[in-house]
Amino acid sequence: MSILQGKQILLGVTGGIAAYKAALLTRELMKEGAVVKVAMTENATRFIAPLTFQTLTASAVAVDTFSAPEEWEIGHISLAEWARLMVIAPATANFIGKIAGGIADDLLTTCIMAAQAPVLVCPAMNTNMYRNRIVQDNIHRLTEYGYSVMEPDAGELACGAEGPGRLPTVEGIIEEAASILTEKDLRGHCIIVTAGPTREALDPVRFISNHSSGKMGYALALMARRRGARVILISGPTDLAAPRGLTFIPVSTAMEMKDCVMENLKEATIIIKAAAVADYRPLFSASQKIKKQDGTLSLELVRNPDIISEIAELKGNRIVVGFAMETENLVENAERKLKAKGMDLIVANDLNMAGAGFRTDTNIVKIIDSAGTITALPLMDKRDVADRILSRARELFDERRQ
Ligand code: CTP
Repeated sequence: MSILQGKQILLGVTGGIAAYKAALLTRELMKEGAVVKVAMTENATRFIAPLTFQTLTASAVAVDTFSAPEEWEIGHISLAEWARLMVIAPATANFIGKIAGGIADDLLTTCIMAAQAPVLVCPAMNTNMYRNRIVQDNIHRLTEYGYSVMEPDAGELACGAEGPGRLPTVEGIIEEAASILTEKDLRGHCIIVTAGPTREALDPVRFISNHSSGKMGYALALMARRRGARVILISGPTDLAAPRGLTFIPVSTAMEMKDCVMENLKEATIIIKAAAVADYRPLFSASQKIKKQDGTLSLELVRNPDIISEIAELKGNRIVVGFAMETENLVENAERKLKAKGMDLIVANDLNMAGAGFRTDTNIVKIIDSAGTITALPLMDKRDVADRILSRARELFDERRQ
């Protein structure tokens, strides 16, 4: 279940061209189960009609302090008390300046002034405005006051300029909102997650790889970050966007992945190897494209190092979590891997079960520890599975320290 389920969120929309994106944000927040109300500045209503938000949320939209809708007695105070989280998206330079300067001259600014809930500010503006020292100082002040301010995305802006200033993606804002509302029970941990497939080159245009989408590993990295851990995500090539707020290290081959894990191992408290590492690589990788010839072609492959076994030898007090994706004898194979590779936990899934394995957003797993205890989980969203794995790893870490 999403952390946003049932959460009362006040979405504040201010007057910038990105205001139209707030409609999509509203939809997605509601899809996550949040109860959304919208407050707009007068200028925002020039970019997008209140009716849009009213229709999407089935709730009155608050604009003007002095003609607040009937359902609120004193609009800004009751809205501020109602909200469990406030999200300002987009936040213009002017609006950021107002809050930083303590100005409360309309409904939205007074709501923020009276806020008891956390406030997430998502700036969107022209690049030069964003880089302006006054704006930067104001953003700095807001963070010092305890507001969460997202970095805008960089790219082509509506005004034609290139650079930082784009409203962060809807997905990014939702992730940040979820993160703010999540209890930080992994604070102090440094968690390495490996994810995705590896690629072993045959020549400059071909490689050996597998179907791993990286979704399970990325879910683990995201949930660990939400729960306050410092996260190092070491990822093979995937279609997924690099998540914000963590150290993201892209790699390609198993050898690169191994070197990268080893370089970062010292800092880690928990290592989770969700990557589908190629067990073999071509003995030779041709420097030029291999041309076809008559008859068959044989490839000579050599073993890659087993990364998790090498980590386990050096692990000390660290918790090492591995995965086993099997097509038969799930528990037996997983238990054998756990012992042979010196893991503390293994997460086993059966590729034959619908809803489990590669490319899906769900998984059906069994979490097995070194004492042989098996926790069988039902079909779950990969993020919920990730939460359960992280909680079990944290428990083991705490037990080992006692
Ligand atoms: N793993 C690893 N390095 C490798 C291969 C696998 O670290 N060279 C890790 C994976 O990240 C996973 C675990 O080992 O956490 C089990 O991976 P899997 O491919 O199922 O195990 P194998 O030992 O390769 O078993 P199989 O014979 O089934 O391929």
